[in-house]
Amino acid sequence: MHIDILTLFPSMFSGPFDESIIKRALERGLLSVSIHNLRDYTHDRHRTVDDSPYGGGAGMLLKPEPIFEAVESLKEEPPSAEDSPWVILLTPQGRLLSQLVAQELVAKPRLLLVCGHYEGVDERVREYLVDDEISIGDYVLSGGEIAAMAVVDVVARLIPGVLGSEEANNEESHVWGGLEYPQYTRPQVYRGWEVPSVLTSGNHADIAKWRREQALERTAKRRPDLLANIQSPKTLKRQ
Ligand code: 6GU
Repeated sequence: MHIDILTLFPSMFSGPFDESIIKRALERGLLSVSIHNLRDYTHDRHRTVDDSPYGGGAGMLLKPEPIFEAVESLKEEPPSAEDSPWVILLTPQGRLLSQLVAQELVAKPRLLLVCGHYEGVDERVREYLVDDEISIGDYVLSGGEIAAMAVVDVVARLIPGVLGSEEANNEESHVWGGLEYPQYTRPQVYRGWEVPSVLTSGNHADIAKWRREQALERTAKRRPDLLANIQSPKTLKRQ
């Protein structure tokens, strides 16, 4: 999978992609990421990317020309010009990122993430350039960069070979459709707080049952909205 990212702040991406699972995916060649500076696609002396909105109003908008030129130029670039990228605008107006959306995205050979900024982008970018618009939640970030990082992370974890069997994804929160069961590690008693005895019983059937119940109970209590689209309990039984 190849991911291009178009941004006004390329240096924001250096830290997060240099650690942990994304770093390993990059090193193993399972994922490649290229960061592109939107200002490189301007032609004026001031490298202008924004302008005030027609009709008035506060704030600035991203101009259409640099974004159209950047996306059209990147579509022609290696590593796989024959696989035209799926172009995603990161914007609070997009559809909500979820595990299901991530599964849809990992099936694409190539993604191009366009990070929105300022008060937004010229509507023609939405209408005539991008294939998709994604938001990571109902709150306002300063720009699409942190959202793009979330997309890269959630997608990278779904690429076969990125997670070791130790880290396998299936029982984690949201992968089965609900929240994860409580987990404990040593010591068995910490400050007088004991690990639930079923977990130290050695009875695997009881442990599996307890985890199923806990996961469902926790989901019902904290995120009842998730119960409607939960996967079959079989997924959870897998130990
Ligand atoms: Cl994708 N962009 C911005 N600016 N804010 C957001 C977001 C995206 N998703 C949630 N809030």
